[in-house]
Amino acid sequence: MSGIGILGFGAYTPSRVMTNEDWSQYVDTSDEWITSRTGIKTRRIAAAEETTVDLAEQAALAALADAGVATEEIDELIVATDTPEVYMPDTAAFLQHRLGLREVPAYDLGGSGCAGFVLALDLARSRALSENATVLVVGVEMLSRLMDWSDRNTCVLFGDGAGAAVIGARAGAAEILACVAGTDGSQTGILQRETGGTKKPFSKELAESGEFLKIDFNGRSVFKEAVRRMTASAVAVLEKAGHQLSEVDLVIPHQANLRIIQAVTKSLGLQPETVFSNVEKLGNTGSASVPLALVDARECGSLHSGDLVLMTAFGAGFHWASALIRF
Ligand SMILES: CC(C)(COP(=O)(O)OP(=O)(O)OC[C@H]1O[C@@H](n2cnc3c(N)ncnc32)[C@H](O)[C@@H]1OP(=O)(O)O)[C@@H](O)C(=O)NCCC(=O)NCCS
Repeated sequence: MSGIGILGFGAYTPSRVMTNEDWSQYVDTSDEWITSRTGIKTRRIAAAEETTVDLAEQAALAALADAGVATEEIDELIVATDTPEVYMPDTAAFLQHRLGLREVPAYDLGGSGCAGFVLALDLARSRALSENATVLVVGVEMLSRLMDWSDRNTCVLFGDGAGAAVIGARAGAAEILACVAGTDGSQTGILQRETGGTKKPFSKELAESGEFLKIDFNGRSVFKEAVRRMTASAVAVLEKAGHQLSEVDLVIPHQANLRIIQAVTKSLGLQPETVFSNVEKLGNTGSASVPLALVDARECGSLHSGDLVLMTAFGAGFHWASALIRF
C-alpha cells in the first residue's frame, strides 16, 4: 500500500440546463431518440463569457476546500482536457496562474479523451509517491464550444463541466489502492477530431465549411470497445489490488451513455444499484465525467466512509484507465 490518497474532491457545472427538447430546435432529433439510445435527458452548457479555465477554477477551488489544502501547498497540477483554453500553451498554465499556485510543474493530459481524469489520477498518485508531492488533478471539458451544433450524431451526447481532486499522503485519506491504464492506438480514426494538427492544419476552407468542428466517430464501434475495455480494466485493477468484485461497494464508470453503463454492469455481473450514473442529467462531460459522478454520488448519499470504490473510464485513443479506492 502506498498511503497515497484522495484528500478532497469537488466539481462545477455551468448553470444553463439544455433539454432534449431544446436540441430539437437545432437538429432533427427527439427526446424519444436521445433517451432511448443514450439515457441522457439534460446537459449543462457554459455561458458565453465562460471558458475552460473558468470551469476548471471552480472545480479546483471546491476540491481544495474539501481537502482543506491551501493553494500554496500544491506541488503539481495536472489538467485532463480535450477542449483547452487555447491551442498553446496548455490549460494548466492558465489555471496555475488563475489559482495563484507557486511556480510548480503544471501540464495537460490533452487528447486523452474521456479516460483523461482517471489517467491523471494514476499519474498524480505516482508523482505524489515519488516526489512526496500534493497534486491537484482537474478533468474539464467544454465540448459545447468546440462541437458542430448541426451534427445530430454527436452534439446531443455532450455536456460541459469540471471535476477536481487533491492527491497526496495523509492518514485517513481515501487511499488509492491500485490503478491500471492502457492504450490501443490502432483505432484512432473511430473517434477523433482531425482538424488543427499538422496532418490537417486549419484553413479558410475548413473554417468556412464548418468542417473544423467535425468529430469523426463510429458510435457503434466506440460503444463495443467502451464496454470491452472498461470491463477488462475493472477486472485488472481488482486483480492488481488483490480484491474481489463482490467486495466493491460502488462503481463510478465514465458517463457516456446509460446503455454502455448497463452493458458494463451486466458483463461484470454487478447489481445495478452498485453502479452510479448521472448521465441522465449531465450527458457525456468527457474527462470531467468521473469526478462529477463522484461528487454526485457523495451528495446523494451513495458514497460512504469505508466503501471500496472502483472508477473505470474509456475514451478516444483508445485510452482506458481504472482505479480502486478505499474511501
Ligand atoms: C451514438 C449512439 C448513441 C448511437 O446509438 P445507436 O443505437 O448506435 O444508433 P443507431 O446506429 O441504431 O442509429 C443511428 C441512426 O440514428 C440517427 N441519429 C443519430 N443521431 C440522432 C439523433 N440525435 N436524433 C435522431 N436520430 C439520430 C442516425 O442518423 C442513424 O440514422 P440512419 O440509420 O437512418 O442512418 C451510440 O452508438 C453511442 O453511445 N456510442 C458511443 C458514444 C461515444 O462515442 N461516446 C464518446 C466516447 S466514450
